[in-house]
Amino acid sequence: MCGIIGYMGSQAAAPVIMHGLKMLEYRGYDSAGICTMDDGTAEIRRSAGKLAHLERLIKDNPISGTIGIGHTRWATHGKATVANAHPHKSGSVVVVHNGIIENYLALKEELSDRGHTFVSETDSEVISHLIDEKYKTAGSFEEAVRTALKDLQGAYALCVLSQKDDKTLIAAKLGSPMVIGIKGNEYFIASDMPAIISNTREMVIMEDGEMAVFRDGGVKFSTIDGEEITKNSRFIDWSPLKAEKNGYPNFMLKEIHDQPQAVRNVIAGRLREDEGDVFFEALNLSDTELNSFERVCMVACGTSWHAALAGKYLIEEHCRIPVDVEIASEFRYRDPLVSGKTLVIPISQSGETADTLAALREAKSKYAHIVSICNVIDSSIPRESDGVIYTHAGLEIGVASTKAFTTQLVALYLLTIRLGRAKGSIDLKKGQEMIAALSELPDLIKKTLELDPQIEEIACEYLTSWDAIFLGRGICYPIALEGALKLKEISYIHADGYPAGEMKHGPIALVDREMPVFILAPNDRHLVKVRSNMEEIISRGGKAIAFCSEGDLETGRRAECSLLIPWAGEALSSVLFTVALQLLAYNFAILKGKDVDQPRNLAKSVTVE
Ligand code: G6P
Repeated sequence: MCGIIGYMGSQAAAPVIMHGLKMLEYRGYDSAGICTMDDGTAEIRRSAGKLAHLERLIKDNPISGTIGIGHTRWATHGKATVANAHPHKSGSVVVVHNGIIENYLALKEELSDRGHTFVSETDSEVISHLIDEKYKTAGSFEEAVRTALKDLQGAYALCVLSQKDDKTLIAAKLGSPMVIGIKGNEYFIASDMPAIISNTREMVIMEDGEMAVFRDGGVKFSTIDGEEITKNSRFIDWSPLKAEKNGYPNFMLKEIHDQPQAVRNVIAGRLREDEGDVFFEALNLSDTELNSFERVCMVACGTSWHAALAGKYLIEEHCRIPVDVEIASEFRYRDPLVSGKTLVIPISQSGETADTLAALREAKSKYAHIVSICNVIDSSIPRESDGVIYTHAGLEIGVASTKAFTTQLVALYLLTIRLGRAKGSIDLKKGQEMIAALSELPDLIKKTLELDPQIEEIACEYLTSWDAIFLGRGICYPIALEGALKLKEISYIHADGYPAGEMKHGPIALVDREMPVFILAPNDRHLVKVRSNMEEIISRGGKAIAFCSEGDLETGRRAECSLLIPWAGEALSSVLFTVALQLLAYNFAILKGKDVDQPRNLAKSVTVE
């Protein structure tokens, strides 16, 4: 819970904090809040719902002060109400928190016995009460925070203010990310760099168990145990990306249409056509090292997990090395079998997903070599990896991932070529053919985008459905999963993805005259089998909608309706089918009047377990 900001300097704190919160809204938009310290008085404004509500509140009730903290929330403990919004205040102490305090119930009981009254259902509120309690006996604000932190179990990145020491701001981190931007005597604290990079490029990255105390225009770093430490800042040389809709009605549609360029970006500068090979700037592995791995293990969550599943099809087929794909939240807790001979690939758009980051750390502790695939430069996951393949998709604002996913697919395709060339399983000719196929892809995505009017008609036809099934075989099985996830996320229609051949083992019982079954039937080696699966649905009176490849007029004839998608070869057609399914989910959601950019209950990046 979920994005935090802190500021101390000479400017009015509120606008700086509000700008940072806007940048962090991808981490949650259930509620938001801010506190500035003005002459020993904590001015707090909190609001349920999106940041725009807080903006209005501040406009009507302005706050002043040059020191302050802010929070944007994705609810874990307690509903999205004002009472549960951060900052939380107890006595003189005000706190914003990202993470989960796992022993909060025990602490709450103990503090209640000491006379503390809790007003929220959150775990975070115990932090303010605990510091307030410690402050009664501690010699200073700093000591109160330090002793309180020792009692906390779980994860936190937090900023703390106190009315009794109103010129001090304290930040601490364990498990959740935190960076500090420095510009002369001004300090900017945030959950990630993009939130503050427009203010300064000089950044300090906080590590677990560290604390920063800001006072009198200076900062003192220490461990939570009280040992003073020196931390060096680094200069960030990449530029912040601008969030612009470029005339589109929302970010999701803009990002769907960004895909031809996004794919060009992930490929740019990486192809070695003559050598039938691919070059990565920061893979940091020689051919010999690549050859030494016995297994590949990919870890991810959500849409990125679907990309990993597609990557398994590509790498196992072309590189002949076993690939396991793991849901990060499961992987981290089951003492996974990885070693120095395992190449672990965390995949993440944001680079901040808590479960994926924890899975990375688990694999690292077992000496695995980590190469992450990530979109956000310098985010936590690439920072902690041995090598990184950036997807360069550009800023993705829409919560339902679109261009980040297709660029992950292309990055995995590129990695397949590199690994296959290093292992000798892809020869020069095959490498050259795989690269040549890529050069057509951006234009074929453009052609697929032109199918939007037909896709809108399909969405209109099935708009009243409550359920849908997506079927695919081979690499189109993960694409079916992704199609179902997109539909669920933004239109709130229940949807499941299945391997087409598995339908007969249960889900076929659901087939009726109401539920659309979207069948992914590219013109690949599975087509004949997929057609049979479609017949099994039709013969039970089901509604089959066939997504086929251009030139295949046969398959669609048997379906209730069909769509012809350009052909890009077996592997890369999966990208084009994805684009069509994104448009399908988009049209369903828009026709139903939903907010596609910020669907209910979701966050772009989930930074808690
Ligand atoms: C959230 C988002 C999903 C995303 C997942 C993993 O659940 O809503 O769209 O796929 O996190 O995010 P990551 O940034 O690690 O790819």
